[in-house]
Amino acid sequence: MRLDKMLGNLGYGTRSEIKKFCRQGMVIVNGEEAKKSDIHVNPELDEVLFNGKKVNYREFIYLMLNKPSGYVSATFDKYEPTVIELIDEKYYTFEPFPVGRLDKDTEGLLILTNDGQLSHRVLSPKKHVPKKYYAIIDRLVKTCDIEYFEKGIDIGEEHMTKPAKLEFIGKGTDVDFDNLFNTENEFFVEKKFDFKDGLGAEVYITISEGKFHQIKRMFNAVGKEVLYLKRIKMGELQLDETLELGEYRELTAEEISMLEGK
Ligand code: URA
Repeated sequence: MRLDKMLGNLGYGTRSEIKKFCRQGMVIVNGEEAKKSDIHVNPELDEVLFNGKKVNYREFIYLMLNKPSGYVSATFDKYEPTVIELIDEKYYTFEPFPVGRLDKDTEGLLILTNDGQLSHRVLSPKKHVPKKYYAIIDRLVKTCDIEYFEKGIDIGEEHMTKPAKLEFIGKGTDVDFDNLFNTENEFFVEKKFDFKDGLGAEVYITISEGKFHQIKRMFNAVGKEVLYLKRIKMGELQLDETLELGEYRELTAEEISMLEGK
């Protein structure tokens, strides 16, 4: 890889800036000043110092975001704020994108990466990576709903949905709102839950596909509405609950291998 490409990818500057830094003697490769920025280096084997500090090359970045409501899962949108706007510009040089989409009003676990292979693995229905959500529903769920979800539901697609696991947690009216939402959360302040039967339900639902609005459409198909949705787990990877809405952090090596299914 060209030295200027390697340093450019890591955000050290534009090609012409890096050329200048090299001329100024700020870049050392294997103990020698690199006067030219177009030389080739092996990022795995060669030691590169920038301004005396070791450069750690990496091709991919992996971020876990606790997505807030109000942001679209895209890298660019003409009208709406995107999840990319929530992360520091220093990551932009890696060109991260969201792994799958959460609806604008859905919260919770969203991975941002530039690793296309990993994204494909996590999203491919053939790989059956389960995605677990916490949801508040406008009516109580019944045992027959759990059975329908297990068998697969007609949501107007060519095929029925794959088996989904629906777990009843409790009545929606019992939700501990203070615990669930920070009261400064816009969503909580604005939205009053409208339980149609006066009770509602709190559930976990686990699906292994990602059809457009899939969970909302599955509940609609059994005469119910999702009032609140939050993704809490993808495969073995769990949302770090210490992340406030809108906060993110890099994944650990162990977490990356969880997503890789290793
Ligand atoms: N299903 C939905 O309906 N919405 C989401 O954001 C994710 C899954």
